[in-house]
Amino acid sequence: MPWTDWDRRAFAIEVPLIPERTSGKMRVIQRKSPVLYPWNFAGLKKSEEDQFRGVQYFGKGRLWNQTTNVLQEIDALGCLKETWMSGTPQEIRPLLPLVDRLPEGGRLFMSGLGLGILPRIASHKLEDVLVVERSEDVYNLVWPTIRAECEGWACIVADLKDYLEHADLHPVFDLVYIDTWPAGDYLFLPWMEYVRSKAKKLMAPGGKLELWAYKSAVRNLRRDLWGQAGLVESLKKQPEKHPGYQQRWPYFWSFIEWLMVTQRTKPQVLERINSEVAAFKVGEREGLHQQT
Ligand SMILES: C[S@@+](CC[C@H](N)C(=O)[O-])C[C@H]1O[C@@H](n2cnc3c(N)ncnc32)[C@H](O)[C@@H]1O
Repeated sequence: MPWTDWDRRAFAIEVPLIPERTSGKMRVIQRKSPVLYPWNFAGLKKSEEDQFRGVQYFGKGRLWNQTTNVLQEIDALGCLKETWMSGTPQEIRPLLPLVDRLPEGGRLFMSGLGLGILPRIASHKLEDVLVVERSEDVYNLVWPTIRAECEGWACIVADLKDYLEHADLHPVFDLVYIDTWPAGDYLFLPWMEYVRSKAKKLMAPGGKLELWAYKSAVRNLRRDLWGQAGLVESLKKQPEKHPGYQQRWPYFWSFIEWLMVTQRTKPQVLERINSEVAAFKVGEREGLHQQT
């Protein structure tokens, strides 16, 4: 895949560093990392000496990911244990179309704060910024640097759900950008859709609401539903080879049952996949919540 102008720009942008410090639970780190995420930029490798900025969490926990069936290390806040946010080109790249779309003197609503990358790479276009960030640690580590750069901007320490339910929501923002979940896992779709329904009240006429990783969540759901279709034959022939399948995949079990008694003709399967996707979107399927 050839490099695009977006990729080049993402590499060229230098977001000013958030100073290294720790809150006891989290720390901001700066380090050089050889060839970070090369697979995201097919064809061109990053330099050996990429500057890496990130926030790491301390503490431990276990998270069973029902999608991949993998146990992951998480911290006390429900975050993946390794570096959890970073200011790498991989993170900057998808934000660039949003920056370009902003009007001069624009207004941004963002949740959560993270390293504040979006407002900082769009600062030349932004007049007002309002951030809602749940973690006091992230706020204390990151916001002082941003506030010193842009005095008029505001960050509130609050849970996004509480904010969306209890604050007065005014339709004044040119861009509403929500990024509070850790991955494009479709188990987050019900939460994403809930957020969408509330957060659109913040959008100015002609404004944009963007949910990070929404498209990949839908894509992953479709892909997995197709994968389940392939499993049906094997389940029918050798159910003993898949012990506990129903428990491990509660979200798909009714779908699998349906496939097992139906002819697997393509239009029918597609139709059912679409209705499953829709069920996730309207919250008929249980999902995960607002954790990142
Ligand atoms: C990946 S970062 C956001 C990065 C940010 N968009 C940027 O431009 O740098 C995710 C942030 O969401 C925050 N967060 C997670 N769940 C939240 C919630 N329910 N309400 C508010 N903030 C939340 C996390 O503490 C974290 O700071």
